[in-house]
Amino acid sequence: MRVAVFSSKPYDVTFLTAANRARGHDLLFLEPRLARETAALASGRPAICAFVNDQLDAEVLTRLAAEGTRLVALRSAGFNNVDLPAASRLALTVTRVPAYSPHAVAEHTIALILALNRKVHRAWARIREGNFSLDGLLGFDLVGRTAGVVGTGKIGAAVARILTGFGCRVLAFDPLPSPECLALGTSYVPLPDLLAASDIVSLHCPLTPETRYLVDGAALARMKPGAMLINTGRGALVDTKAVIEALKSGRLGHLGLDVYEEEAALFFEDRSWRILQDDVFARLLTFPNVIVTGHQGFFTAEALAAIADTTLQAVTEFEQGRIPATAIQA
Ligand code: NAI
Repeated sequence: MRVAVFSSKPYDVTFLTAANRARGHDLLFLEPRLARETAALASGRPAICAFVNDQLDAEVLTRLAAEGTRLVALRSAGFNNVDLPAASRLALTVTRVPAYSPHAVAEHTIALILALNRKVHRAWARIREGNFSLDGLLGFDLVGRTAGVVGTGKIGAAVARILTGFGCRVLAFDPLPSPECLALGTSYVPLPDLLAASDIVSLHCPLTPETRYLVDGAALARMKPGAMLINTGRGALVDTKAVIEALKSGRLGHLGLDVYEEEAALFFEDRSWRILQDDVFARLLTFPNVIVTGHQGFFTAEALAAIADTTLQAVTEFEQGRIPATAIQA
């Protein structure tokens, strides 16, 4: 099948090309992000492949459908960037990668927790400058601490499992408790109770209208003074301006982000030679107790191989006239 692959990076080309060897689709790798201005690049291609910051609103979907697209194959788990009712109206099939390596994101979450707690980012910079002072690098033992996991699907459950291994008491909030977490001894509690009791709060629920700004000023006020907040889910789960106020007041002790609500204008590109225009993001970078990574939780060799395989399998199933197993219902 002829597929236009938007937001293509060198690693996408490597992993999709490898996964395509046994399938033989005609992949057109396009560097631009999918947006109103670039949708026409998919002209005549019955399938497009898109990533997390590609724009898939009603107008873009309408343009794609008018140019002959019938399948939108997302190479991501999250699908908050797709207007699903519009896709359904336009008879577009949308697929995603429901599971690739939840371990990749879970392990990155743990990397943020450990680095923030033991100030690895600051110690690394100090040692390079010949500063061997330990002042300001004091951490805490994870054993015996309480960690709150919001959303215990595939990734959240993997995080709960690792934190249980560290000797943490794990609390969770999820409308659908996970049998695996219950077996681990995770306690499900209402969200306000989780926020009030946790030394570390980690977000792993999808971004939906209901979860947008799940962590706002009121939620931050409920958290333990000095607690750590980790977001490797989606940027808009957190009200960044409220978080900055909580960091300034010292109410929030540590912040680890792999996602940012305005990341579409920043992430996945080398902007090191440009003047940063996002003042909110710039303020975040000034805090010594904040670590931001650029949406790299998924970025392991195992995850990329699995993403490429599942994405192209959906294209194959669609080409064969089947409803792909990974199709999203509107
Ligand atoms: P999943 O679908 O397996 O689990 C999501 C869980 O969240 C489910 O158990 C669901 O019941 C729960 N949930 C739904 N609404 C909730 C609410 N209001 N409060 C608490 N829990 C709620 O998804 P998975 O694979 O674990 O991924 C979770 C999220 O992680 C994705 O939606 C995506 O946004 C993000 N993600 C981030 C990546 C990164 O590179 N940083 C990569 C992959 C996913």
